[in-house]
Amino acid sequence: MINVAVLGYGTIGSGVVKVLQTNVESIARNAGEEIVVKRILDLRDFPDDPNNKLVVHDYKMIEEDEDIQIVVECMGGIRPAYTFVKTALEQGRSVATSNKELVAKHGAELIAIAREKNCNFLFEASVGGGIPLIRPLNSSLCGDVIEEITGILNGTTNYMLTKMNEEGLAFDDVLKEAQEKGYAELHPEADVEGYDACRKIAILTSLVTGKQVDFEDIHTEGISQINADDFRYAKALNCGIKLLARSWKKDDVFYAMVAPIMVEHNHPLYSIRDVFNAVHVHGNMVGDIMFYGRGAGMLPTASAVVSDVVESVHDHNVNQRLFWSSEKLKLGSLARCEGRFFVRMDKDVSKEVIEEAFGRVEYVSVEGIEEVAFVTDVMTEGAYYQAAGTVGHVIGMIRMNHK
Ligand code: HSE
Repeated sequence: MINVAVLGYGTIGSGVVKVLQTNVESIARNAGEEIVVKRILDLRDFPDDPNNKLVVHDYKMIEEDEDIQIVVECMGGIRPAYTFVKTALEQGRSVATSNKELVAKHGAELIAIAREKNCNFLFEASVGGGIPLIRPLNSSLCGDVIEEITGILNGTTNYMLTKMNEEGLAFDDVLKEAQEKGYAELHPEADVEGYDACRKIAILTSLVTGKQVDFEDIHTEGISQINADDFRYAKALNCGIKLLARSWKKDDVFYAMVAPIMVEHNHPLYSIRDVFNAVHVHGNMVGDIMFYGRGAGMLPTASAVVSDVVESVHDHNVNQRLFWSSEKLKLGSLARCEGRFFVRMDKDVSKEVIEEAFGRVEYVSVEGIEEVAFVTDVMTEGAYYQAAGTVGHVIGMIRMNHK
């Protein structure tokens, strides 16, 4: 029998307990041993919960319990999760976590401790919720050099963009719905400002390059500036608006960004709706691959955490070598990257002024919106910002999908 401690009994932690207790027999068959939740750490009591007796408030109760072999961390945030996880790994206990903040910031260090202690630090649930993604990247695709990752990596914002587009709902109302469904972060700006997607693309890029990608280095824009008129323009352009997290290699330099993007109707990511995530990966040998599934929510995310628990049982006292060193990866400057830009400006700006600054553009008009809107030709980000600065009067800009 394997005893597990679950840190944090919120949406994901309670989901992990539910999955372990619901699928007890099939999980035991897969793991080769029964897996039992022995303790749950949370500051709160849960008097109406059948697992209430397992709840402890002090991590020492877990640290000092020698019968616990695996620790599941679903607290979120850095402190105190980092201290607890580090302690568990130093004790030689494998850890499975859904905490993308922790993985993005301390992944390299925690992987190194796990290697030294012959245990594992696993984080399948930290990116893409229930989608098997980290393991395929580390094992099935290990013969490839991954040259590009483009993903819808945040379920909350994809849910919000879908509802705003299809049902015309207001930003605050759809955010509230996403929170009620258990998709959103404790501080929802992490979702809507793109920080969550940023941490996830930082994790994926660190894994495929083997170097530390600091999320602070990734240019990140969220969806809080997107409004109903943007969706009307998107329809006129035959596009949808998606929050994409992307990293790509060009001339041996990696670039990364998170931003809302106009995605053409015939692109595979256009049809990813609701809470679903999709990740498109390009390997230099395998070519294009897409991963798809529920990117947030209690049970899909818990399912991914439990897969790591079972993996930890299989690999007891065997470290799965993950290549993610603390050597920093220097990302290239986006100013050099090329793209096309959809721009909205005050109606008084003349076409001559626009064309003098931006060159050839395609104008877009939507009945009832009194602005001048256009899509630029291919230009660098640096050139775009220079032209936009010269003309001024920019109401909004969304990048067109461009490779
Ligand atoms: N808030 C996150 C999302 C949860 O919406 O994707 C899963 O990481």
